[in-house]
Amino acid sequence: MIGTEVIQAIGGLIIVAAFAQLAVLLYGTWRGAALARVRQDLDNELLRQRVAAETLNREVERNKTVATWSGFRKFRIRDKVQDGGDICSFYLVPHDGKALPPFAPGQYLTFNLRLPDRDKPLVRCYSLSDSPFQTDYYRVSIKRQGPPPREPEAPPGLGSYFFHDALNIGDIVDVKAPSGNFFLDLSKHNPVVLIGGGVGLTPMLSMLNAICESGSQRETWLFYGVRNGDEHIVQEHLEALEAEHEHVHVQICYSDPKDDEVEGRDFDHGCRISVELFKRILPSNNFEFYICGPPPMMDSLTSDLREWDVPDRDVNFEAFGPASVKKTATATVSAETSSVGQVVTFARSNKKVTWDGSHGSLLELAEDSGIALDSGCRAGSCGSCITAVKTGEVSYMEEPGTLPEDGSCLTCIAVPKTDLALDA
Ligand SMILES: Cc1cc2nc3c(=O)[nH]c(=O)nc-3n(C[C@H](O)[C@H](O)[C@H](O)COP(=O)(O)OP(=O)(O)OC[C@H]3O[C@@H](n4cnc5c(N)ncnc54)[C@H](O)[C@@H]3O)c2cc1C
Ligand code: FES
Repeated sequence: MIGTEVIQAIGGLIIVAAFAQLAVLLYGTWRGAALARVRQDLDNELLRQRVAAETLNREVERNKTVATWSGFRKFRIRDKVQDGGDICSFYLVPHDGKALPPFAPGQYLTFNLRLPDRDKPLVRCYSLSDSPFQTDYYRVSIKRQGPPPREPEAPPGLGSYFFHDALNIGDIVDVKAPSGNFFLDLSKHNPVVLIGGGVGLTPMLSMLNAICESGSQRETWLFYGVRNGDEHIVQEHLEALEAEHEHVHVQICYSDPKDDEVEGRDFDHGCRISVELFKRILPSNNFEFYICGPPPMMDSLTSDLREWDVPDRDVNFEAFGPASVKKTATATVSAETSSVGQVVTFARSNKKVTWDGSHGSLLELAEDSGIALDSGCRAGSCGSCITAVKTGEVSYMEEPGTLPEDGSCLTCIAVPKTDLALDA
């Protein structure tokens, strides 16, 4: 006879076995679900990468099929949007209705503005401020440039006031194709730090939007410096990008916050953007840096980054006005400005002019002599005015932002050092 204890023991064993089986079953199911989740995540990631690659491929294909243009092309202002902080965005569409060639984020447009009380057109450059993936318009964001604080009686900025006050939806502007060597390479995946001071945010915004829209998982930090909330633009847009993209980190610096503005709520740091701040916030110095802002900010950041052992090749910058940052490369720059009496020959125009010191640059001398030279920034930044030097030498009044090739010069900031023959 089997005793009650034996029956109980067998019953117990059966229950334990059943529980063990259930546990194995549950574990199997849980493991299966976990594996399925991991697989789903991997699939999603793969899909994201494929979409990113496909988007880039399409961009490259579009690049091949949509021709850029030479000279000036007519664009219609489709929208004019006040961003705050005296900055206004203009959405431009080609007047001929044809497709827009792509651009690299960081590049700019050159405008030929016809102001009513000026004989000569006014040339001004403005960075493209939206992503190149927005293929039906170009956008520029322009700050109204008032007189310098120390010279309140001086006339306000001609080009920016014209945009703000005179140009409206439906108006036509003449625009050169996107250009400039300051841009982000979207085919790379290295981590980047984008630094925008004031309206210097515009090229950074294009880069940041492009990174997010391409689906790239590139680690990206944006440092945006303004005086206070009055100048802080596209706040909601930046917050949304940071919330939607794990790899995007936005750091807002107010150098002079207002009394009711609170650190941690309205802005992240109550200071200027500096390398000291990077040392506190960034995990390392192993980033590629892109900088655009007022000259003092660019000066201090570029030299402090060098001291922080960031190689020069990883520091890219754009000046919106006269270039101030000193390059390490050996530029053919002379500190002394020229004397007078040199003969400047414009070889192709068959004209000889004596330099009498009354012109600010060779570009001005050419224009006043009836010789049309290309120009953009008129500050040594954009490279539009590069002209071949057939014989002779020039001096630069400022350090060129774009180093011209040997045998050529940037006429907008050059003056003759010796007798000179230009291919113009
Ligand atoms: C590559 C590049 C990209 C750029 N991107 C942007 C951008 O995205 N957004 C943007 O807003 N800007 C940008 N800029 C700057 C822009 O091109 C203009 O330089 C800017 O708008 C000022 O031009 P303006 O015609 O309004 O002023 P200007 O007429 O050139 O005057 C400049 C300043 O000089 C002052 N001034 C004029 N006359 C006198 C005088 N007699 N005495 C003392 N002061 C005087 C004016 O009040 C003004 O403050 C960019 C520049 C470059 C080179
Ligand atoms: S006009 Fe831009 S560099 Fe001379």
